[in-house]
Amino acid sequence: MTLDLYKYVASIPDYPEKGIIFRDILPLMANGKAFKQATDELVAYAKDKQVDMVVGPEARGFIVGCPIARELQVGFAPARKKGKLPRKAISSTYKLEYGTATLQMEADSIKPGQRVLVVDDLLATGGTISATIDMVERMGGKVVGCAFLIELKDLHGREKIKDYDMEALMEF
Ligand code: PRP
Ligand code: ADE
Repeated sequence: MTLDLYKYVASIPDYPEKGIIFRDILPLMANGKAFKQATDELVAYAKDKQVDMVVGPEARGFIVGCPIARELQVGFAPARKKGKLPRKAISSTYKLEYGTATLQMEADSIKPGQRVLVVDDLLATGGTISATIDMVERMGGKVVGCAFLIELKDLHGREKIKDYDMEALMEF
């Protein structure tokens, strides 16, 4: 039976700031069947892309990206928030729907020529995914797809990644 994944996303008005509707994926993760269906659907999207590595930004990109990497039987490289990586790292700073942030990846985490699937829970303004793509490409990786559970249409993040193939399972 196919589940309606929208039923597993909670919408919280005015969080973390007035005017933002926060789309919370924790109910989806809390349901084993819904979480499996969602990650399976993104695996199906990626299956023919000959992906070598999955990359996901902290923190919710880890949660969605790791089961996809495991299923594709490829590695996972995290894009972490600044100051968490012990070895040589590269950085990219970006604007968020609320605030700014810097992400970092270990400088050798993607090898030149590797085909990379970038995964996150949600596409809002596209700042996070663009910063992640920027680091992958500076290491010589080729982004072959971007996969999300949710796209927030009003924030037009899709325009920032218009040169890349993308898939989002739900739209708000
Ligand atoms: C959220 C979300 C995406 C990003 C999307 O992460 O998980 O990564 O914002 O927004 P954007 O498209 O405008 O960049 P957040 O930075 O809140 O971090 P978290 O996953 O650690 O909560
Ligand atoms: N990240 C950026 N905007 C968000 C939103 N509205 N809900 C959940 N995560 C987000």
